[in-house]
Amino acid sequence: MNNVKIIGTGSYAPDRIVTNSDLSEIVDTNDEWISSRTGIKERRITTGEDTSVLSTKAALEAIKNANIDPLEIDLVVVGTASPDKFIPSTACIVQAEIGAENATCFDIAAACSGFVYALNIGTQFIKTGQCKTVLVIGAEVLSKIIDWSDRSTCVLFGDGAGAAILQRSQDENGILSIYTGSDGRNGAEFLACSAVPVRNPFITAVEKNDNIVTMSGKDIFRFGTKIIPKCIDQVLENQDCTIEDIKYIVPHQANMRIIDSAAKRLEIHSDKFYMNLDKYGNTSAASIPLALDEMARKGLLHRGDKIILVGFGGGLTFGAVLIEWMID
Ligand code: UT7
Repeated sequence: MNNVKIIGTGSYAPDRIVTNSDLSEIVDTNDEWISSRTGIKERRITTGEDTSVLSTKAALEAIKNANIDPLEIDLVVVGTASPDKFIPSTACIVQAEIGAENATCFDIAAACSGFVYALNIGTQFIKTGQCKTVLVIGAEVLSKIIDWSDRSTCVLFGDGAGAAILQRSQDENGILSIYTGSDGRNGAEFLACSAVPVRNPFITAVEKNDNIVTMSGKDIFRFGTKIIPKCIDQVLENQDCTIEDIKYIVPHQANMRIIDSAAKRLEIHSDKFYMNLDKYGNTSAASIPLALDEMARKGLLHRGDKIILVGFGGGLTFGAVLIEWMID
């Protein structure tokens, strides 16, 4: 099996900042409620750019930082719950925009775990020798599927994209351990957004369909607090590491209280979790790579650091990746 490492990251979020007080003019809410219940202060909302545009900008940044030619990319995987279209995939649109003519491209639907799943897919393609260089992206324009009259959901989400370039490595192994799982049986209805209903000339009844996100906040909350420690324990166990070996945990950014509770279960300080939720809200599949790229740009990551990415979300889906950082 080949070794795999991350050689560059990138991210992009729309310019338009929407604060908690901006939202209090749309729904019956206030900064105090949103900040204290979630940790979110503001989020970025697109004024027209769709998911493929955000993805392309994040991808170009990652390509520049990895110092590669787009023609070297063998595979593009985009994790998204809010693609531009059913067909073509967001990945195919990105391929055309960045000039990755030699790549195979597809999207995957794993909600907020989308980036962890995409990273896993990219890693497996390299490990088995089918690919040498892979572009993985987590990107969302959730603002187009949010019910802007529902204060229990519209205050939580934001738009953004993050990307990473994975490459085959002769000697060093950067992706040390991966754990993923799904539970479509218990909790598929906790977080949902319908696609189009069945409609054709041979049936008369057509279901009503609003294509908006519905959520049972408390159920997702409980799920998050339990599954984060489970995923972290699993990748540590696979690699025979302890939590003390880990410099940072980069979690899906959903709610600061979920992180505080997970930290308590793990018997660690919340500071080990890198958070930028206050600035971006919950950007679903984009939240982990947005945070990872921010950490890289801030100079927080050094060669040899061990970090864990951990995601959970609708599906239900969940997963974690233990990484040894290989960029100087
Ligand atoms: O990526 C994964 C996706 N989602 C998540 O991770 C979300 C996980 N869940 C959560 O983060 C939390 O459950 C929420 C932040 C969504 C809600 O927090 P909560 O502490 O569970 O609040 P709640 O739903 O129990 O609501 C408490 C009160 C209710 O009023 P009453 O019935 O007590 O009078 C709500 O109507 O807060 C009210 N409320 C609000 N008030 C002001 C709900 N949303 C708002 C709001 N502003 N935006």
